[in-house]
This record gives sequence, structure tokens and C-alpha cells, in this order.
Amino acid sequence: MATVKAAILGFGTVGQGIYHIVNERKEQLAARTGAPIEIAAILVRNLDKPRPDTPGVLVTDRFEDIFAVPGLEVVFEAIVGEEPAGTYLEQAIKAGCHVVTANKVMYAKAGSSLEALARELGTGVGYEATVAGGVPVIKTIENLNLANEVTGIQGILNGTSNFILTKMRKEECTFADALKEAQELGYAEADPTNDVSGFDAFCKLMILSGLAFGEQPEWERVPMDGIDNLTLDEVVDADRQGLRYRHIADVRRGEDGEIQASVGPVLIGPDHPLYGIDGVDNAVAIETAYAGTLTAIGPGAGMYPTATVMVEDAAVLLLKHPFRKLVTE
Ligand code: NDP
Ligand code: HSE
Repeated sequence: MATVKAAILGFGTVGQGIYHIVNERKEQLAARTGAPIEIAAILVRNLDKPRPDTPGVLVTDRFEDIFAVPGLEVVFEAIVGEEPAGTYLEQAIKAGCHVVTANKVMYAKAGSSLEALARELGTGVGYEATVAGGVPVIKTIENLNLANEVTGIQGILNGTSNFILTKMRKEECTFADALKEAQELGYAEADPTNDVSGFDAFCKLMILSGLAFGEQPEWERVPMDGIDNLTLDEVVDADRQGLRYRHIADVRRGEDGEIQASVGPVLIGPDHPLYGIDGVDNAVAIETAYAGTLTAIGPGAGMYPTATVMVEDAAVLLLKHPFRKLVTE
């Protein structure tokens, strides 16, 4: 049977989620897109690590091996950090593949050049998973900007920070214990510094700014703070006064035409739209010219919420680019 050949770069929390969903949803994906997707190759860093069985799949630690797959059409990227991820995706696009990524640190910097390259070469880029995990904010903002206009975005964009703040407030759990649980649940990055310092939410905000306003503010001018300086006493005392700390990212175009953005913990009261967002949930309030404020809420991290939007991205790209390199064996 003819299949669409795909590779996964990185086989941790997100990579494994993609593998499971593509296999569990094989028939549904084939019915919707015209051909089943087959994961033909997986790139990892350490071949000796114990992993789930992936029968018939090439598992390699050499990126160039991926291109030995005949007719490779989709590359899912779920590794960590700016490089080598950016270079790998550039090479995949040059090899005629659609690419789908969850890597916000890479995409905040390299996204616009990858999109330009893909446009030039007739392939596509999917990056829904880079912002707010399973909450489909990228597609929503793209659609809103067709006829309506996005004027501002405010959100909780880091699931780990929201999970930690919620555990501290509700259970008087220490920061360290709450972070450990977020790591065990696969929400936090392998190195959680970016989660708790605010840089993860910052990268996501830069991606949203580029999408909504066509440009990012100068990074050095955006105030950025994390939840790592908040104490348990501060969180619990605020709660006793009916207030909550939320880690909020905000971007809008100011009256002077400049993009204004900020990222950091904010003390808010019950009237604030982000007051009730608990646990790993993210929320993105999108302010628009014609439809007021639309708020999307849902799981901002985790294996399946993230992987499912990546598989959706791949399906959308296959539908948009109907000339396939289908491989029949
Ligand atoms: P993990 O740490 O669980 O997995 C990362 C995987 O990438 C591992 O399999 C690792 O290999 C592999 N890897 C890392 N560097 C390289 C490299 N240089 N070459 C080849 N393979 C490499 O991370 P996650 O799955 O949690 O996250 C993956 C990406 O998705 C990150 O960019 C993250 O920010 C993003 N993301 C994560 C979400 C989540 O909920 N976890 C949600 C949304 C986005 P090995 O196993 O051999 O070490
Ligand atoms: N570590 C990230 C978070 C994963 O907690 O939000 C989702 O991007």
C-alpha cells in the first residue's frame, strides 16, 4: 500500500507521543488525508537509552541516515534547543520535506527564515505545538488576521510555571517538590531553567508576536521574569487575601506603533480573566478589532496534547500540498 513516509527527530515525551498517535490513528489519518502516514525513521542522541519498541523503524543517532528513507515527506522535530534543530529543519526543507516542530526556543529565532525557505521550495512548516501545547492558538490567530485584526494577546504560556504556582497555592507544596512532579509528568523541559526563568514563555510570546503583528519586539527591551523568585509564603499570603500569582505574557502594538511586550509573575484578583486557570492549563486571551476578546484554554504541555497538534499540522500540510511522494513497497 502507498504510504507517506515520516521521520521523528527526538524520541522523548513528545516524539513518543507522535509515534503512538500516528500508529493509533493510522486509518483515520489515511481516510482524511488520502494515505496512511508511516514513521520510517527516528533520530535520537543516545542509542543505548531504553525506549519503547518501534518494530521496522530505523532508529539512528546520525541525522544524515534519515534521508536514506526513500520518499521521505514529513519530518517531525521534537528535540531540544536552537541547534542542531534549526539546521536539521533547514536541511529537511531543502530535501523537499514538510517540517513540523514543537521547539519554541529554535522557532522564536529561526521560524521566519524556515517559513520563507519552505515557501520558496514549495513545502510547508507546522508549528502549532510551539505555543500553548494542545491549545490551537496558531491556527486561530492566522484565521483571525485574515479579516478581523488581532490587537493584543495576553496569556499563561508556560504549563510548568502554572502547575507549580497552583500546587504551591492549593497544597502549600514547596517549589522544589512541585517542579519535581512537573518533570515526572513530562511537562517541564529536561533542563527546567527556561520554564521557571520565564524564557520559555518569552519564546512563545515572540512567536505569537511575529504571527499576530508581523514582527517581534527587540528581545533585549522586553522585561522578562520567572516564578523562580516567588516564595511559598508570598503565594499562600496572596491566596489568603483572595489574590493569585499568575505568570503572564503580554504583547500588543502601542500607540507609537512599537510592539510592547512583557513576561513575568503578576498578582491578580478574581475579576481578571486568567484568575481561574489552574494546573498545567494554558490560556490565551486574544483581543480583536471585531470580536472582542476570545480566550482559548487547555493543556499547555504533556505528551498527547502536544503530539496531537503536531500530527494535525502534518495532516493539514499533506492536504494543502496534494502532490505526494507516496512510496509503494
Ligand atoms: P525530551 O527531553 O523528553 O526528549 C528530547 C529528545 O530529543 C530525546 O529523545 C533526545 O535524545 C533527543 N535529542 C536531544 N538533542 C538531540 C540531538 N542533538 N540530536 C538527536 N536527538 C536529540 O523532550 P520533550 O519531548 O519534552 O520536548 C521536545 C521538544 O518539544 C522541546 O523542544 C520542547 O521544548 C518541546 N515541547 C515539549 C512539550 C512537553 O510537554 N514536553 C510541549 C511542547 C513543546 P535521547 O533520548 O537519546 O537523549
Ligand atoms: N515546558 C513547557 C511548559 C512545555 O511547561 O509549558 C510546553 O511548551
